[in-house]
Order: sequence, then structure tokens, then C-alpha cells
Amino acid sequence: MRVLILLLAVAATASVSDLDWWKTALIYQIYPRSFKDSNADGIGDLNGITEKLPYLAETGVDAIWMSPIYKSPMYDAGYDITDYRQIQDEYGTMADFEKLVSVSKSLGIRVVLDFVPNHTGNESEWFSKSIAREAPYTDYYVWSDGLNATDENGTVYTKPPSNWVSNFRKSAWEFHEGRGQYYLHQFVIGQPDLNYRSDSVQAAMKDVLRFWLDKGVSGFRVDAVNKLYEADPSKYGGVYPDEPLSGIAGLGPDDYEYLRHIYTENLDETYDVVYNWRDVLDEYINSQGEYKILMTEAYADLQLMIKYYGTKTRNGSIPFNFSFLGDITKNSTAWEIKTVIDKWMTYMPSGKVANWVNGNHDQSRLANRQGEDRVDAMNMLALILPGVAITYQGEEIGMTDGYVSWNDTQDPQACNTDDPINYYKKSRDPNRTPYHWDSSANAGFSNTTGATWLPVADNYRTLNLAAQMAAQKSHYHFYKDVVTNRKTPAIQEGDLDTRALSESLLVVTRLLPGEAGMLGVVNLGADTQTVDLTSLKLLPADLEVVASGVDCTLEKGATLTKSSVAVSGHCAVLLRSGVVSYSAAHAQRLAYHLLLLALACCILSTTFI
Ligand code: GLC
Repeated sequence: MRVLILLLAVAATASVSDLDWWKTALIYQIYPRSFKDSNADGIGDLNGITEKLPYLAETGVDAIWMSPIYKSPMYDAGYDITDYRQIQDEYGTMADFEKLVSVSKSLGIRVVLDFVPNHTGNESEWFSKSIAREAPYTDYYVWSDGLNATDENGTVYTKPPSNWVSNFRKSAWEFHEGRGQYYLHQFVIGQPDLNYRSDSVQAAMKDVLRFWLDKGVSGFRVDAVNKLYEADPSKYGGVYPDEPLSGIAGLGPDDYEYLRHIYTENLDETYDVVYNWRDVLDEYINSQGEYKILMTEAYADLQLMIKYYGTKTRNGSIPFNFSFLGDITKNSTAWEIKTVIDKWMTYMPSGKVANWVNGNHDQSRLANRQGEDRVDAMNMLALILPGVAITYQGEEIGMTDGYVSWNDTQDPQACNTDDPINYYKKSRDPNRTPYHWDSSANAGFSNTTGATWLPVADNYRTLNLAAQMAAQKSHYHFYKDVVTNRKTPAIQEGDLDTRALSESLLVVTRLLPGEAGMLGVVNLGADTQTVDLTSLKLLPADLEVVASGVDCTLEKGATLTKSSVAVSGHCAVLLRSGVVSYSAAHAQRLAYHLLLLALACCILSTTFI
């Protein structure tokens, strides 16, 4: 009995981190096609990822999120899924996936999958059965008859049900001869939209979540969640209403931004679906002894995003915070960056978990968006701010967008421009080129003698992980040092203070009574600036450099005093202070820890005496 109590006590202690891991997780996004090719076919795969897991563990990553790995014809790089329960052959087998999960677990890394609920691929069995009007699949997709119209010669013809445009250009409706109706596709023609007004679809998608949760995954990133619902025709006289024009100059009816998407995005019904998925994930907390993370992708106004967090009575997801991608540019000042950070922290409902996204497979790379001299600064900010940090593969070494010719272009968003000159403005291929492991052929990504699925970026011979590991200073060393310090109590739990001391000087402080304080200092300008940090009253005077960016002259291990910190141009530096002095709050924390200690002693003594 006593032993049982002891075991329960130990289990209870272990489960605290298993229940809270997600609140401060560093999540590393893997784009499987471009991470590591283990079988020399020029395409990354699951065994390649498994091979590189020790690297991620050594870097301090808590979880990996893998972009889709499911069976797919790859019209949209796997976001067009044929079967939610099968692994794409090019990526490996289910056994490979299971091995990846077990090796990850042994290294302390959790696995998060991409969940693509808005659409399947058009090769899905569900779609074939829906075309054939086979129950219960008949209404699995958004089907509609066309509208009769008359041209200027008086000829009657059929046109699509509404003026809606696909995110990848041109009509969002496609006529299907087999069914004799149009179907909706908010993305490529091969990605028919599922119909969330069907209870069967809702149930089927919950089962997809359960399938992977049963395999031990630790949560999901939910794709394009704000597109789940479209206007209900029964409320618009039986038709799908046309969307109003945006009025943006220089666009035509084929362009997505030509319309204001009031009937195809952010509909109120969406949020309950997310809260219901949260409930499904919560079914697994007890049985698997860990919290399952749910992160949603929606490019929307902040007020709409915040709703994904939940309500007073329902728990929701962590809505991706894309403000680092959308609201910070090469020219942003320290004042502006502070405002971007503060905005999320201000609007986020109290008690919820923040998150910071510095890149993904849909966006130009950090170095291109914000400049190579801001890579360290932005990586550090994401890592020292409260909540979840998300790193897209390659950002830890400051990879840049590669060049992909029109002939090599794969991204449907670029191909749909039909423009061999300007396609690159829409293309996401440059930020999806293979990972630079080293300076060997194909950047160590693949041993193929043929072509890799996308060309490797030219600069891999000098910009690669091996070179950065060997260098005395590098983006990678800086990233890793910041990650190491991310595990300190101040960064995990400390209060946040953000200050723009001038146009170019940004200081982010995390202080927790009784613990060493941590502060990140960024100089966005080209000249050295000397900072006086005495206005940070609670910050102890003595500081030590614990991570030094590539442009910093303050070296790791150097000690300073807070009244005068000289920060070189483009420097991002992480400093650790002495222990922040006691306060009422700390006295409380201390009392709590003493209580736990007393409890543990009590259990031990009753067990062994
Ligand atoms: C999301 C994905 C993107 C994909 C689209 C359609 O935005 O991140 O890559 O093309 O959804 O699934």
C-alpha cells in the first residue's frame, strides 16, 4: 500500500510536465519532402526524419509537427489527401511512422501531425462515393447545380453557382460530369471542400483524429480552419450568394483578393467544430497521460483569431499567431516590434497560451522577409517570449529562399498564375527547398544521382548546418544557446516586460522572484548603442552573456553591469542576471515548494518506517 502511494506520488509529479509540456513547447515544423531523403529518390521521407531526430533532441526541440505525410497525388504537396489513414508511399510505411514515433518518444520529442479537415483530395474514396451519390457520402462535399445564364447573343448557358474564387485563383467551383453538378474547392481543383453541415462528415473527421491519437501522437496542427464553412444557401433563397468586390486596384475576377470573403471564411459555425475537436483530444489525456496540443491555422483579424482559444465554457485551440510574419518587415522599428508583441499579449484571453511563429512552408523565409541581419533577433524573440515557439525547418541556421525556375515549379499557387515571368511572386517553392545539412552534393539532403524534387538552394556550400556547428559563432550556436536558456524558470514562467528604448533598441525581460532573470537585447540598427537598463528596477545589476548572436561583440561568458551595456550593430544577445530579489509572490512560491517537500518527506517516512 505504502509503495503504491509512493508510486502514485511519483506518477503525479511526472504527469505535471506531461500535462503542461505544451504551454512552453518549442515546436519544430518539418516539411517531410525537404528534410532528409533516406532512399535516394530525391524526396524526403519518414526514415530520413527518424535519422535526424538526435539532431533535434540535441538542439532542444520539444515536439515536431510534420506537414502532411498521408497518401496523396501531391497536387498541393500532400494537402490533397486521398486517405487520411495511409502513409504516402514516397514517405514510407505505417511501420516507418510507428518507428518514428517510438524513436521520438525515446528522445523526449513529441510528434504532432497536420490535420487537413477543410478538403480531401479528389482521389479520395469518399469523393468517388459522393460523386456516385452513395449514402452516407452523398452530401460529404459542397455540391450545387449551376445557374442558368444568357449571353449577349441570347444563348442560354450554365455558369457556376456563385462568383467565388479559389485561394489559388480562378473559380472555386468545378463541374463534375459524373455527378452532373459543381463542387466547391477553395484551393486546387483536386481539393474538393468537405461539407461541415453534414453530421457524417463531422463524425468521420473526429474518427480521423482518434485514429492517430490511438497511435500515440501528441496533437495536431489544423490546416486552413477558417475555411470550413460557407454560407448556408437555405438562408439565401436556396443559392450560394455572390461575394462583394474588394475594390483592390489592379486585380481581376480570377484573383482571390478580388472579392471580400464574407461567405467563405471565418463563419461563426467554425468555432464550435474546433471546440468539439478539443473535446476529442481531451478524451486521451487520462488514458495516455499527456495533454494533446491543438493549433489552428487561420489568417484572419486578431479578434476572430482569438475566438479559437475558446469561450467561458468551452476549451479551444491555440490559434497560430502570424503577426511576426505579417506585421514585421525589414524596416520595422523597435517601437513597432514591441507593439506587435504587446498586441497579442493584450488581446489573448487571460490564462491562455501565447505563441510565436517565425516561418512556415507557405511564407518566404525569415532571412528574406526581415533581412539576414535580423535572423538572430527574431529567433531569439520567439524563443524568449511566453508560450509556444514554432520554428520552421532551416530557420535555426538562417536558410534563405532558393531559386526555382518556372520549369521546376511545383506549387499550384504559382502554376495557376500561368505566368512564366511573374510566377515567383506567388510561389512557395523557394521556401520549401531541401534542408542544408552540409556542403556535400545535394546539401547532404539526398544521395540521389538524379534531381531532387525541388532544386537545392545555391548557397548551401557555405550556409549549412555542419559549417555552422563547426564555426565558433553561427546562427545555429546562438539558436541552441537561447533554447538551452529557454528551459530556465524565468523564461518558462517569469513576468514579461517589453521595452523599446529607442527606434532600434528592443529589450525583452523575463523575471521571476528567486530565480536568475533573463533578458534579450536587440539592436536593429547598424551602429553600436550603449544601453542603460537601470529603469528595470527589479533587474539585478550584474549580468552575464549567455547567448551571443553572429553580429555581437559581447561574447558568451562576458560579465556586465546593467547601467551600461554596449550593444553592437545588428546584435541580438541574451543576458542572465543575478537572482531577482524576494517579494511577497516569491514567499508564496517558496511556501508552496516547502509544503510539497514536507508532503514528500511524509510519504517517504510512512513508506520506509
Ligand atoms: C494551408 C497550408 C497550405 C495549403 C493550404 C490548402 O494554408 O498551409 O500549404 O496549400 O492550406 O490545404
